[in-house]
Amino acid sequence: MEKRKFIYEGKAKRLYETDDQDILIQEFKDDATAFDATKRGTIGNKGIVNNKLSEKIFTLLEKKGIPTHFIKRLNDRDMLVKRVKIVPIEVTMRNIVAGGMAKLLALDEGIILKKPVLEWHYKEDKLHDPLINDDHVMALGIATPKELEIIKKYSYKVNEALKKFFDSKNLILVDFKLEFGRYKGKTMILADEISPDTCRLWDKTTKEKLDKDRFRRDLGNVEEAYQEVLRRVMA
Ligand SMILES: Nc1ncnc2c1ncn2[C@@H]1O[C@H](COP(=O)(O)OP(=O)(O)O)[C@@H](O)[C@H]1O
Ligand SMILES: [Mg+2]
Repeated sequence: MEKRKFIYEGKAKRLYETDDQDILIQEFKDDATAFDATKRGTIGNKGIVNNKLSEKIFTLLEKKGIPTHFIKRLNDRDMLVKRVKIVPIEVTMRNIVAGGMAKLLALDEGIILKKPVLEWHYKEDKLHDPLINDDHVMALGIATPKELEIIKKYSYKVNEALKKFFDSKNLILVDFKLEFGRYKGKTMILADEISPDTCRLWDKTTKEKLDKDRFRRDLGNVEEAYQEVLRRVMA
């Protein structure tokens, strides 16, 4: 399938229509942003890494019974996906304290949580993706109670599958972000991407950060970290 009309350019990807109205091409860019796009840069070959990692992970999740938008990887930077209406919440799942949770509650990074923590963040950069709860989501009609239950169920399942998978690659899954959408206006499926842009991954032995925090915090060797995750995941 070929790219037809360009429809959206986001911070990390571009979307194109295809000849099928229910199918899009998602193109992964090297552009990197942080802190609600106040920090901007590029990470060499990030688009290629994230495309291949997303392919691998979506395929694994489909096998575990989680429906995703992934259809097929077309080339280095493009994948074919089912077109959805994105539910405007980012689902954050945390296993270890880091990032926003460390800041919100003045906690040290690295504290192992007694259970996974699921958070909803309203997807709006201007508002800095504020933390909201189930009642906000339902009261504002962002999702129905039934949809929330499905999203929760899938999110915990994704966490269990990915924790195990990354552990086998000597990586700790600290936290990650998911986006869901309604395919053909109803069926809830996992969309967007799963990559070091959207997951915090630490080396199990050294606790070295191998994700976008290297870019956010100017830790150096950003491109190398993404390549290392790809190398391990493909091994
Ligand atoms: N299958 C899909 N159908 C429609 N939109 C999608 C799909 N998967 C992801 N998206 C949306 O496409 C955009 C992807 O580009 P990205 O660069 O991540 O954007 P953003 O800057 O909004 O994070 C996001 O807004 C995401 O919600
Ligand atoms: Mg995005």
